[in-house]
This record gives sequence, structure tokens and C-alpha cells, in this order.
Amino acid sequence: MLKIKKLTVHYGPLPALKEISLEIARGESVALLGPNRAGKTTLLLTLSGILETTEGRIIFQEEDITNLTPHQIVSKGLIHIPQGRHIFPTLSVYDNLQLGAYTRKKEKEGIKKNLEEVFLLFPRLMERTGQRAGTLSGGEQQMLAIGRAMMGKPKLLMLDEPSLGLAPRFIEEIFACLKKMNQKGLTLLMVEQEIPLTLSIAHRGYLLRNGRLIKEGSSSLLLESKEIKELINL
Ligand SMILES: Nc1ncnc2c1ncn2[C@@H]1O[C@H](COP(=O)(O)OP(=O)(O)O)[C@@H](O)[C@H]1O
Ligand SMILES: [Mg+2]
Repeated sequence: MLKIKKLTVHYGPLPALKEISLEIARGESVALLGPNRAGKTTLLLTLSGILETTEGRIIFQEEDITNLTPHQIVSKGLIHIPQGRHIFPTLSVYDNLQLGAYTRKKEKEGIKKNLEEVFLLFPRLMERTGQRAGTLSGGEQQMLAIGRAMMGKPKLLMLDEPSLGLAPRFIEEIFACLKKMNQKGLTLLMVEQEIPLTLSIAHRGYLLRNGRLIKEGSSSLLLESKEIKELINL
């Protein structure tokens, strides 16, 4: 579904990603792991079209999407939930969800059906449709961020540290939902620091360090590897 070929990205003169190649098949759940400043966020921002590539290609569903605009990329179903969630705090839960469907304005029926699916997944959001999003708890805001992304009909959903700053019970709830969404066919690319939990719902993973991929493998293989054990104990 997604193929990244020898991707290099710079901030000014400094390279942040160096010749990254990776592949994600339809229906897979894939973890992208690595210490702080490894380049994980940079990779997601590049896939979303927010940062420009220096070299390399990004192929999504057999189509070259390298350096398309963020809007074009979202319309194709490659959707990114940024670190820190970025919901609209002064808007209601309902309006935040509607904004997630901004690329599909003409599909009234589809949007309505989608909204019902989001409420089924996150009943808490349904109970709070009229509430201002900024007054939700951190866990509820992350649910809203995921719900809003689902309103854009993702084919591949990318999440940047969804567990950051959340209480443990919310983290577990959110990961249970992500697992359910993946089992229903949604392809996932997850950047996370909660490594064992993430690998428990991922099929495979990649380890990034200093802008380079240094290891890849099945979740069970990674959990046993010395590099991942070191990272967990950091
Ligand atoms: N806006 C920016 N301008 C310049 N350098 C940046 C910027 N954002 C990140 N970097 C640098 O790029 C590298 C990778 O950062 P990042 O992708 O945020 O890593 P991670 O998400 O793995 O913590 C780091 O060395 C970081 O300092
Ligand atoms: Mg980051």
C-alpha cells in the first residue's frame, strides 16, 4: 500500500532522514520506533506533504505522491494525526468531527454513516457532542483526534505518539480501539514510546536512529532484540 524508496529529508543544510526505505502492506499495523530526535515525526510530516523531500520517492497505492500538497494526500486517504492532537479547542466535539470530513463535502450520506461508526467506536464522544473540545480530558481529546481522522475515510492512518501525556486507562482504551480499527481493515503506521504496548498490536516494526533505519522485523523479533530492549530501558 505504501512504499518509501530511499527517502532523504533536510532541515536547511542538516539531514534529518537518510535514505529511508520501507513498505507497508494493506491491512498491516506497523510500529515506527526510535529514541527522541531519531526522525520519526519528520518521516510522518514528509509522508503528509508538510515537509519537502530532498531525494527519494513515496508511492501510495501504486501512485507517486512525492511532494503532492497535504490536501491532495489527505484526499487519497493517507491521514496523519499529529503529535499533540491539534483539535480545535473552541469548537464543539461535533464540529471538530465534521471538519475531519472536509475533503468529502458532497458525500452527505457517507459522512452521516461515518459519524455513527465513530460514535460506536467512541461512545464518550457521542455523550459530549455539544461540548467544547478544549474542555475534554486529554484521553477524550485523543479519541476526538482519532474520530476526526476517521471522518476523512483513511486508508492508511498515521499516528504520532497518541499515548503522550495520557492516563494509563486511556492509553489502554485507545490502543484497544486502534486494534479494533486495524482488524476491520484499516492500515496503521504508529509512532510510539509505549513500545511493548505498541508491539502488542503491531504486526511489524522499524527502528529509526539518527535519521536511519537500523532494524526491522516482526513484533516478536523486535521485542527480543537488544536494540529494542535498550530503547525500552532508556
Ligand atoms: N523544524 C525543525 N527545524 C530544524 N530541525 C528540526 C526541526 N524539527 C526537527 N528537527 C531535527 O530533526 C531531527 C529529527 O527530529 P524529529 O523528527 O522531531 O524526531 P522524533 O520525532 O523521532 O523525536 C532532530 O535532530 C531535530 O532536532
Ligand atoms: Mg516526534
